[in-house]
Amino acid sequence: MGDVFRLFKLNTGAHIPSVALGTWRAEPGVVAHAVATAVKVGYRHIDCAQFYGNEKEIGDGLKKLFADGVVKREDMWITSKLWCTDHLPEDVPKAFDRTLRDLQLDYLDLYLIHWPVSMKNGFLTKPDIPSTWRAMEALYNSGKARAIGVSNFSVKKLQDLLDVAHVPPAVNQVELHPSLQQPNLHVFCKSKGVHLSGYSPLGKGPGRTNILKNPVLHEAAEKLGKTPAQIALRWGLQMGHSVLPKSTNVTRIEENFDLFDWSIPEDLLDKFSEIKQERLVTGESFVSETSDGYKTIEELWDGEF
Ligand code: A2P
Repeated sequence: MGDVFRLFKLNTGAHIPSVALGTWRAEPGVVAHAVATAVKVGYRHIDCAQFYGNEKEIGDGLKKLFADGVVKREDMWITSKLWCTDHLPEDVPKAFDRTLRDLQLDYLDLYLIHWPVSMKNGFLTKPDIPSTWRAMEALYNSGKARAIGVSNFSVKKLQDLLDVAHVPPAVNQVELHPSLQQPNLHVFCKSKGVHLSGYSPLGKGPGRTNILKNPVLHEAAEKLGKTPAQIALRWGLQMGHSVLPKSTNVTRIEENFDLFDWSIPEDLLDKFSEIKQERLVTGESFVSETSDGYKTIEELWDGEF
């Protein structure tokens, strides 16, 4: 119970539970069950997004958990994200209200700009992050979004935002796992008080190297009597990142929360620097030579690979 990695303090003063259930690609029909299982196991943080197309069902699941007295709303941390089609300042509160309606909530603990990418009518458009951020700040000031942040922001994009923000982002949610450790982003965020949340913390991107087979993780798992997935997640916590593993399987939901009251010792952690680095979620669908948005992947990530 006394593990210091259970909660991380944000620049708002709030404490974010360090392990969330991810819900990307969790299909309607199974996602509410996964949420209920997770809450019963002890998860207090659910990571959602309008784009995932399952917020209505998550809302039904949460409503039942609250009604049955399994957990109280105020003991849960619910995150959602603004999709790229809703970046215009007048669209931001509408998208936010849709998410609140779907989730059947009257506030969110955290609302993120999902990508630094804007789209309208199926076309990529030039992002204007400062104007989107003003609308995010209005949600924060209304109290309906208790913290605001971003996702998939490079150091450069975060710095540009920090230069104009009245309310600094509390969180940057990015791909983070032992095979994408992002040391520069980690150091930058730490120095600016922006908390990093890691998506795809098991490094199981579509059709790429499976990091759970990595020998460094296997050695640590064997020595500590844990699974490689638990080692990957605990590495994230020891880096000070919250982790958002997605699963709809009861055994794996339990496994992914059994991360406390043990730790990876320094000598094993040192070996993580040997792991080959590879970005799984490249965002290639968000770049186009002929668009008004980013022309190349380099530009999307500002060359920070
Ligand atoms: P499943 O839903 O069948 O458990 P990530 O969160 O890094 O994107 O990884 C999600 C993927 O990893 C899902 O396909 C999920 O499948 C699988 N997964 C989740 N937990 C574990 C685990 N502990 N060990 C192996 N695979 C896992």
